[in-house]
Amino acid sequence: MGLPRFRIGVIEGDGIGPELVEAALTVASAAVEGEAVLAYHQEAGGAKTYAETGEPLSAAALERIRSEYDATLKGPVGLPTVRKPDGTEGGLLGGVLRGGLDAYANVRPIASVPGVRTPMRPDLGPIDYVIVRENTEGLYLSRGLGVGNDHASADHLMMTRHGVERVVHRAFGLARARTGAPADRVRRVTCVDKSNVIRSYAFFRRIFTEIAPEYPDIETDFRYADAAGHDLVHDPGHFDVLVMENFLGDILSDVGAATIGGLGLCPSGNIGDTSAYFEPIHGSAPDLAGQDRANPVSQLLSAAMMLDHLGLAGPAGRVRRAVREVFAGGEVTLDARGRPTCGTRAVAERVRKRLV
Ligand code: IPM
Ligand code: MN
Repeated sequence: MGLPRFRIGVIEGDGIGPELVEAALTVASAAVEGEAVLAYHQEAGGAKTYAETGEPLSAAALERIRSEYDATLKGPVGLPTVRKPDGTEGGLLGGVLRGGLDAYANVRPIASVPGVRTPMRPDLGPIDYVIVRENTEGLYLSRGLGVGNDHASADHLMMTRHGVERVVHRAFGLARARTGAPADRVRRVTCVDKSNVIRSYAFFRRIFTEIAPEYPDIETDFRYADAAGHDLVHDPGHFDVLVMENFLGDILSDVGAATIGGLGLCPSGNIGDTSAYFEPIHGSAPDLAGQDRANPVSQLLSAAMMLDHLGLAGPAGRVRRAVREVFAGGEVTLDARGRPTCGTRAVAERVRKRLV
């Protein structure tokens, strides 16, 4: 048979990771049936791996992810008990993978899911925007590198022209492929920074402003990060694509997640020019691990983003539609903490049944 075949790296992760990833692989395989074949290649990574080997991912695994796989699906990693001597977590892969793959755009869609209860005012209307978080520099370039002693501690925030330019271009490119903000259907990219206070953020805004005229069909817009946090809650329908430095994107994507009903619904893609991997934006919730209670939707939608990235838009769209349908029809409901009342496996099963 001549079906296209894709090699997919899989990092199941820690805590709730393995059960989420299992759910996502089942759904992804079902979604591509008859159109493509996904060959899964497991790679060890995260806190378990750090505890066993002293590194969260081997150099050989990173190299396979970089050069052999068409894309990688990753579960959440990290365990609070697994620490490096400097006090930070040993099992995290953000620095290793994002830097190692030069996956400079962290694409984080925040979209309301009809049927899911949220803390937002009911008259606000739908939310559908994408945070593009710069992923290889900014404050988090200092991961594992800060300096300090018992009396003082310092981390640097660094931006390069090249780093800002490429992520800003990615944001405008994404806006071109979308249909605009829900409130007014205007295609818009919002530059989020603290250019009123911090020199590096002024540099970010200057480069954004230089590039914007290359996209005359896209409206440009600016928010200081604190005001962006306010407006993501107060007027979310205004936003279409937002681009920002690493640390700001980390924080504001969790704010966005809360507005649509929780982190358990939010996927992401870490996308460079030559490699990409896909993961939920939340952590590994070790207290929930192995109990079939975690919400797998973030991982299912991460798999859908991966399918899109592979050019499998049909299967990706079917996964997203199936997820919407199980919530809209009340087949899946979430408790007050965002956990599916029917359990992890049952959510995946109900989504899978709706794919056909
Ligand atoms: C995220 C996570 C990671 C980050 C942590 C776990 C290192 O919060 O992907 O948003 O800060 O980037
Ligand atoms: Mn985060």
